[in-house]
Amino acid sequence: MRMKELGITQEQVIEKTKKYMMEFTDRLDFVCDHAKGMYMYDAEGKAYLDFFAGIAVNGAGSCNDRVVKAVQDQAGDLMHASAYIYTAPQALLAEKVCTTVGFDKVFFQNSGTEANEAMIKLARKYGIDTKGENDWKIVTAYKSFHGRTFGAMAATGQPDNACQMGFGPMIQGFSYADFNDLDSFRDAVDEDTIAIMVEPVQGEGGVYPADPAFLQGLRDLCDEKGLLLLFDEVQTGWCRTGDVMAFMGYGVKPDAFTMAKALGGGVPIGAVCATEELARHFTPGSHGSTFGGNALVCAAALAEIEELLEKDLAANAKEVGPYLMDQLRTLPHIKEVRGRGLLVGAEFDESISSAALKHQCFDNQLLTTSVGQHIIRLLPPLIVTKEDCDQAVAIMRKSVEELAARG
Ligand SMILES: Cc1ncc(COP(=O)(O)O)c(C=O)c1O
Repeated sequence: MRMKELGITQEQVIEKTKKYMMEFTDRLDFVCDHAKGMYMYDAEGKAYLDFFAGIAVNGAGSCNDRVVKAVQDQAGDLMHASAYIYTAPQALLAEKVCTTVGFDKVFFQNSGTEANEAMIKLARKYGIDTKGENDWKIVTAYKSFHGRTFGAMAATGQPDNACQMGFGPMIQGFSYADFNDLDSFRDAVDEDTIAIMVEPVQGEGGVYPADPAFLQGLRDLCDEKGLLLLFDEVQTGWCRTGDVMAFMGYGVKPDAFTMAKALGGGVPIGAVCATEELARHFTPGSHGSTFGGNALVCAAALAEIEELLEKDLAANAKEVGPYLMDQLRTLPHIKEVRGRGLLVGAEFDESISSAALKHQCFDNQLLTTSVGQHIIRLLPPLIVTKEDCDQAVAIMRKSVEELAARG
């Protein structure tokens, strides 16, 4: 519902949020009233060009017609039934996911971090069941980000970051190695290691794509040592990087991988996919979820991924992403532009603070997100056009110039 119908002003929304919510994020001074496609709007109808898609969620664009209709239709018939009852939306989504990504089994969760918890649990269960009670260690990468629950938080290779500091001892069983450095991973593996887990493109850590030889090297290392290769595709999944899953573009198949964000197109859902051999180690009672994969979210997710696939938005990401990166390279104060498909990082020199630039872009009606001190991450909906990119880069140019002039 829009704010007018709710009888609330922008100021009241901000005031109530600040008063009643625990706040951890550097929010934009923006109350989003409604959104459609490439734009988000405030209550007065002022349009903001969306280059972050709710952090890589709104893949087919905000409030995509097909997803909206699926939610509306499903909400009137059945929203939730629990994992003890079969539902058609869940069965149809499971089939669509597995057949599209070429995996045997899927389990639905509610978020990316939960999907990673499930994958970590599955890897440990497999190790302990098949190799012995000490085989449960996982090597992950520095600068990775896997989520904020205890397993995913410990898997996150950022020991000095606020996302880990102050939460007491991390759970045991994780060690870290340097991303894109195969020798570092080889050195980190010991006799108790059961798996290696990485993002094909590190997103939150600053947008660092894996080198193809590194991912293939990890696969070979895992095969040589009898380890599981696990990919976190929470941010890279569902067409973002120019392929349906990033691993498909790299041609390196993991034993299990996770997804979330764009899978739901706006409803909260995550999932872990695994081979049959691995999946059978989750036995009755060993894992579960009350909400995971309920009828409402599965109906929405099915509509979202059908839209992504039918419109071939992976191909759009593959074509428009490099165009966007080329345009970004022309910006003043730019140091490096990197990414894969439409997961793009623009790193500026030390004179430009990414947090300040994000706010300046917002003032000029462009939505972006910052990672680290000098990196702007661009994650537009996958329907983005080259003209949208021209407009976004023009706004960024203006914003950088305004910041630089301010000194
Ligand atoms: C690669 C990756 N894994 C996991 C997560 C955590 O997902 P969620 O916030 O849905 O728990 C994120 C979130 O940004 C992510 O980028």
